[in-house]
Amino acid sequence: MNQATSHIALNTPSYVKQQKLINWVAEIAALTKPDHIHWCDGSQQEYDTLCAQMVAAGTMKKLNPAKRPNSFLACSDPSDVARVEDRTFICCARKEQAGPTNNWMDPAEMRTRLNGLFDGCMKGRTMYVVPFSMGPIGSPIAHIGVELSDSAYVAVNMKIMTRMGKAVFDVLGTDGEFVPCVHTVGAPLTAGQKDVAWPCNETKYIVHYPETREIWSFGSGYGGNALLGKKCFALRIASNMGRDQGWLAEHMLILGVESPQGKKHYVAAAFPSACGKTNFAMLIPPASLNGWKVTTIGDDIAWIKPGANGRLYAINPEAGYFGVAPGTNTLTNSNCMASLNANTIFTNVALTDDGDVWWEGLSKQPPAHLIDWQGKDWTPDIGKETGRKAAHPNARFTVPATQNPVIDSAWDDPAGVPISAFIFGGRRSTTVPLVTEARNWVEGVYMAATMGSETTAAIVGQEGVVRRDPFAMLPFVGYNMSDYFQHWLDIGKKIAASPAELPKIYCVNWFRTNDEGKFVWPGYSDNMRVLKWMVERVEGKAAGTENILGLTPKFNDLSWDGLEFTQQQFDTITSIDPSAWKAELTLHTELFDKLEYHLPSELKTTKAQLEKRLSV
Ligand code: OXD
Ligand code: MN
Repeated sequence: MNQATSHIALNTPSYVKQQKLINWVAEIAALTKPDHIHWCDGSQQEYDTLCAQMVAAGTMKKLNPAKRPNSFLACSDPSDVARVEDRTFICCARKEQAGPTNNWMDPAEMRTRLNGLFDGCMKGRTMYVVPFSMGPIGSPIAHIGVELSDSAYVAVNMKIMTRMGKAVFDVLGTDGEFVPCVHTVGAPLTAGQKDVAWPCNETKYIVHYPETREIWSFGSGYGGNALLGKKCFALRIASNMGRDQGWLAEHMLILGVESPQGKKHYVAAAFPSACGKTNFAMLIPPASLNGWKVTTIGDDIAWIKPGANGRLYAINPEAGYFGVAPGTNTLTNSNCMASLNANTIFTNVALTDDGDVWWEGLSKQPPAHLIDWQGKDWTPDIGKETGRKAAHPNARFTVPATQNPVIDSAWDDPAGVPISAFIFGGRRSTTVPLVTEARNWVEGVYMAATMGSETTAAIVGQEGVVRRDPFAMLPFVGYNMSDYFQHWLDIGKKIAASPAELPKIYCVNWFRTNDEGKFVWPGYSDNMRVLKWMVERVEGKAAGTENILGLTPKFNDLSWDGLEFTQQQFDTITSIDPSAWKAELTLHTELFDKLEYHLPSELKTTKAQLEKRLSV
């Protein structure tokens, strides 16, 4: 079915049957004016061709196939290295619907502005039509999107990160629903103009229209700004869908944990960006904890729907991992390192002289010479003198989930996996203890709602300051945060009224430091000790002791086999300092004042109870 827009052949493949979709592609092509349109079929051949084209154009380098077969390195423009939260907008009818934690603009005003910016923005480029399913194709929990992008880097990354290609059109049929996503790097080319390796634009807009379930992204080619299935669709738009349809779209990893007796539970865990979610999702239990196993369903996002029995079932809507490279090594995450052996796209890491990759933390001793992520010579001495890192702190790898040696056998199950517990954790050097179990659902929602974390390099802005990050969803809830809290409370009420048991809720902090500023808890594999306690709590087998915050293990309630960790160290990371908590509660008050509109009264009551317990 070939149609002509004002200037270009659409080249629609015969297997695309939906007129609404074809009309939309034609409409966007007429606005953005690309030179060509390419409908992605998701094949390996297409992926290989696009990668070869990007190598020829200088966007990517092919890594040494003897070291890392079929893998590439892309280095971005230095101004385009992370999500841009201050340029991210939720454009719904009323400002209060977006709430005080989101940037808002009137949808009509934003459309006018974007129409101007998108007019002719793809000139000289190819527009890729990228059909994708978030979740196993055809799963009742999955949803479909189509991204129109003028970036081949986006097309190949979307092949790894989603179920992308031809099969999606079969599910769409003649009238299936999809979320339309429009993306441009915002760098049109005039006739004969030579392209740069990483085109982008100083002006950036990451725009969501929740009412019409649309995404428009301008000016960035990087990660969450450009791979629109991820944060934009799977969290900001999907959180709106979940609120309307009674399910949850969360910034959570999902892992399976199996006891030596073969009993398996699935837990979902929310941590802010770059707090070790990928490491936790692929955790290798210490050998000394005989027979415990951890398997991965997902490392970043969970879609969770109540089943007919009232129980919550979760899928990972993604098909790959877009993880932070620096700090990843065989000690911190050897499963991840094994995943990265081949078929991986690296972005903003350093290149070794033998055509492989390196990043800070990969090995104790850096190689004697590297080309850094900005294409400059780098040696350990240059690094010391200038403070320049070889890899950008938010450098990433994109890798198919199937390469994870501990992928869970149910990771692709359209029915999802039942969730036994939720875990919420921030990066806090003080105040928050190692682990606390909420006494009930409302207390758990309160803990998650008031979570704070020290900021990292995953977002543009100052690093290391504590910001409130409710549910690790501060940049990702696509509507009013207080209404989102209410949604969680409502889901809890629904489960409580069903035959299903409510999942338990935990708050953890792996990051407490001692007087010298050193982490006290070893983390990584040893997080299994805390996970084991949680699962045993779910099964009613482990003890928990009540404190002012909730329930917590005593030293002897955790297994210490194979780890030298003293009662005194345990006390350092589990102590509750009343004066620090009084100060913490003033920050909860600040948050609640900001979120006053629609703030659920149950959360205010929970806070009042905590204040009362603290003053005793
Ligand atoms: C991510 C993030 O990329 O949370 O996953 O920033
Ligand atoms: Mn994330």
